[in-house]
Amino acid sequence: FKLPVPLNEPLKTFSPGSLERENLTSAIKELKASEKCVPVIINGERIFSGNISDQVIGGDHQKRICQFHEADETLTRRAIEEGLKAKKLWQRMPLEHRASVFLKAADLLTTKYRYQMMAATMLGQGKNIYQAEIDCITELADFWRFNCHFAEKIYEDQPLRNNVGNWNRVEYRPLDGFVAAISPFNFTAIGGNLCSAPALMGNSVVWKPSSAAVYSNYLVYKILEEAGLPPGVIQFLPGSPQPIVNEMLSHKALSGIHFTGSTFVFREIWKQVGNRIESYSSYPRLVGETGGKNLHFIHESADLLNAAANTIRSAFEYQGQKCSACSRLYVPDSVWPKFKQHLLTMHSSIKVGPVDGTVVKCFKIDFTNFCTNVINKQAFDKIKSYIDYARSSSEARIIAGGECNKFKLNQVGNDEKGYFIHPTIIETSDIHFKTMKEEIFGPVLTVFVYPAKEYEKYAEIAANSSEYALTAGIFASERSIIQNLEEKMLYASGNLYINDKSTGAIVGQQPFGGSKASGTNDKAGALMNLLRWTSARAIKENF
Ligand code: ALA
Repeated sequence: FKLPVPLNEPLKTFSPGSLERENLTSAIKELKASEKCVPVIINGERIFSGNISDQVIGGDHQKRICQFHEADETLTRRAIEEGLKAKKLWQRMPLEHRASVFLKAADLLTTKYRYQMMAATMLGQGKNIYQAEIDCITELADFWRFNCHFAEKIYEDQPLRNNVGNWNRVEYRPLDGFVAAISPFNFTAIGGNLCSAPALMGNSVVWKPSSAAVYSNYLVYKILEEAGLPPGVIQFLPGSPQPIVNEMLSHKALSGIHFTGSTFVFREIWKQVGNRIESYSSYPRLVGETGGKNLHFIHESADLLNAAANTIRSAFEYQGQKCSACSRLYVPDSVWPKFKQHLLTMHSSIKVGPVDGTVVKCFKIDFTNFCTNVINKQAFDKIKSYIDYARSSSEARIIAGGECNKFKLNQVGNDEKGYFIHPTIIETSDIHFKTMKEEIFGPVLTVFVYPAKEYEKYAEIAANSSEYALTAGIFASERSIIQNLEEKMLYASGNLYINDKSTGAIVGQQPFGGSKASGTNDKAGALMNLLRWTSARAIKENF
């Protein structure tokens, strides 16, 4: 038999007055009305460690979405040991039974839990309706469904030849140990995928979600549990990174790490693994998707309106808190006045506001109500420091936005409570300016205007002047120019977009991931990622 062929989960419209809009409004109301408490979960057992932290609502930071109990070293060790026991049965389950858990989870997510999950992601992580939906509903469901399809393809791949008298086969075993999944705040779907992909391939997973996304990730766990995930296959360990990650890294059965987060942290993890390499029973697989300093390169033949709209969306959707967000822009001087006008017009119609109530879905060139808060104070302070740096530099000037006001918001008037940063555009005369080089992870776009006639030279600089290589967008209409830019950008990114924004990869359509300092390029939502969670055994049998 075959597993169902997956389709991408469709988006809903959420138009005002629609049933789905009403359902979502009720879910948000319900979530705000009662405070939630999230435990550590080991073998399905809820553990209230008593070491409690808050997940605050970044758009209303005196309020919290949940309190969560933190795991420590002892609980982490227990989770690993118990997980290894649970793995014994799980790995012997045929794919169709393992897959059915994730297929059912996708159905539960898109039906019973759709609005609850969106409310959790909107309030907890500061997303508007559209940004929440493309993350915690469609992308997560797609990860779960497409991963099953890719897993089936992996198991089907068998040796081509058998000599008379023998039969060769390949067994795709799970790794011999446990996998540590360490996930970020910015996509609920990433947390869901980091724990699920290795689990689908028969591994036991110890999952540490970001402390800024605990509640939505807890719902992910609960959905998997309701879908039939056996206790212990995925252990859910919220808490401070230090004790949990240290304990994971010091366990001899560590066989893999599935990580999304900052380049700095991934490098630290890699170093620690290197230092302890002799203590492990196998070489741990390190799969990481980390930072980005993504570019849009505009050629003068480009459709400028399209290029500007895609740049605004890429730079400012979800407040630029996507590793794929465009944060450096190269525009030829011949079209800069016109392009700048498009950018500024679009920028002026962006509204910044809290997630509940005022925010509606963002359509293609409609920037109404589409920026919410950044995730927390640390992010706010960091982003603000870059804007302040640009403001005080003689090599740059802020041409739009630049307001970082925790207490007063210009466009929604009376919000006095959240971490809001106005989408900011900086123009610089220095192609290597600080904000053209460093990842800011916020709504800040820096533009460099280059001499149009020298586009090849500047495309090369753009392609090679960053330590990162995650995503890139090139905008041109002439075929030979597109080909030329594509070639020049060969190692500038793991995802290249032609006449499209650098964000928004869709599972099953654009496998996602980058190289250089951006990660190991093992492509989320793709066969090659799942392959990393297997250790093949070739078997030859003589008859
Ligand atoms: N996968 C996300 C995107 O493509 C980060 O924008």
